[in-house]
Amino acid sequence: MEMSQELLKAREYEEQAEKKISAKERPGFHLSVRTGWMNDPNGFSFYDGVYHLFYQYQPYETNWGPMHWGHAVSKDFLHWEYLPAALAPDAAYDKDGCFSGSAAVLPDGRQLLLYTGVSKEAGADGKEKEIQRQCAAVGNGTDYEKYEKNPVIDGNMLPVGASKIDFRDPKIWREEDDRYFCVAGNRAEDGSGQILLFESGNGFDWNFKSVLCENKGRFGSMWECPDFFKLEDKWVLITSPQDMLTDGREYPNGNGTLALVGAFDKASGKFLEETNQTLDFGIDFYAPQTTLTPDGRRVMIGWMQNWDTCGIRKENTKWFGQMTLARELFMKNGRVCQRPVKELEILRGEKTEYRNVVFEGEKRLDGVKGRRVELELCIRPEKEMYHKFMIHFAENESFHTSLGFFPMDSRLEFDRSFSGTRRAGLHKKDCRVFENEGELRLHIILDHYSAEVFINDGEQVMTAAFYTELAVDGISFAADGEVCMDVVHYQLG
Ligand code: FRU
Repeated sequence: MEMSQELLKAREYEEQAEKKISAKERPGFHLSVRTGWMNDPNGFSFYDGVYHLFYQYQPYETNWGPMHWGHAVSKDFLHWEYLPAALAPDAAYDKDGCFSGSAAVLPDGRQLLLYTGVSKEAGADGKEKEIQRQCAAVGNGTDYEKYEKNPVIDGNMLPVGASKIDFRDPKIWREEDDRYFCVAGNRAEDGSGQILLFESGNGFDWNFKSVLCENKGRFGSMWECPDFFKLEDKWVLITSPQDMLTDGREYPNGNGTLALVGAFDKASGKFLEETNQTLDFGIDFYAPQTTLTPDGRRVMIGWMQNWDTCGIRKENTKWFGQMTLARELFMKNGRVCQRPVKELEILRGEKTEYRNVVFEGEKRLDGVKGRRVELELCIRPEKEMYHKFMIHFAENESFHTSLGFFPMDSRLEFDRSFSGTRRAGLHKKDCRVFENEGELRLHIILDHYSAEVFINDGEQVMTAAFYTELAVDGISFAADGEVCMDVVHYQLG
């Protein structure tokens, strides 16, 4: 397989640059970029006995730039091994970026990547326009060759009014009858997001099938990075809308993540929406992608940053961008819920447990500290309703990151204002939890530079990155009013 200069250069560069980053400077079990910049997860799939996770990648700088595809594999979603960069922007149709996409297996056992090729081209009026088209590459799990007839889906196939500029992020899946479907993000004539559905007999020759779902001005503007799959007896359409307007309860402002739950009429290619929800109420979550494990679990990984907040970082960092934990999705009361993959248990080391700790004011517990930790908390009123419960982590005299719960208005607040950043900006987010009467269950995973908080058995989730020095590792609790608390704490290996 012949390799382009651009890909060779990226592969040589990343191999050297990776050596300059020690394991201590990275998260322990979350995938971080090999070197430089990472955004969306791409091509998340099980292939040849391992999970493959590709990602939007600019190896040379810690800022977004010419998009390559980085590549890593894992057997358990926790221990990741870097593979050489898979794609570089080296063809006429993708010279301005190999944007997000996905992976599938071909009948002959090869791996198919479907991605967005971006190129700036002069329009009829002489002005430069960005064109986005869907392209294919085929490989063996390490090396990939771009398809000679690329692009495989271009703007000429789109319905009237559909944008050829905002047309990206194909997510492919293979049906039981061996046909392929793929969904892609697009803008309709009115500028608002829509998801298009395409169909193919072989993964290379595609036909436009339908407009699967339209935003109609409801959730943000352009819809990026769609994913569409069956979960229990529902179909779920996930997408990441740009420019969301908050409604004060379910949707925060900015770049968000939306899950629409409903049914799929395969014959017409129409999604029949029933309910909608946000996927993560935290500060740093975007562009998630799912895959199906061999044992039938629908597992999701998201980019553990967000376009609105990626200025918040460690000074002089050699890498920027990490992925969330892999999370199993399940339905409860009509909502898509999340829990960390069961594999996480293999990391559990020393366990510290406390039951029925009744306190008011400040509280520290022996053995409860660290930055690579799993914490299960259950908080309830001791007698009367309390006013506030707080947990501080990544804490010392100067710094802390916190979760505060205000039971009177069912509000849980994530606050990283004191996490050592010198930048102003978005440091707080909150989430209205459901029916609780002062009882709250939190499952918190800390891994050096992030916290993922699964609320009430994964009904809601809050994720945020913070870059406090690792020596800052205290954990403490505080309550205004008397609370009773159970704590299970594991060091994670
Ligand atoms: C989402 C996104 C995608 C695009 C990629 C470019 O974060 O904007 O729509 O493919 O990032 O890096």
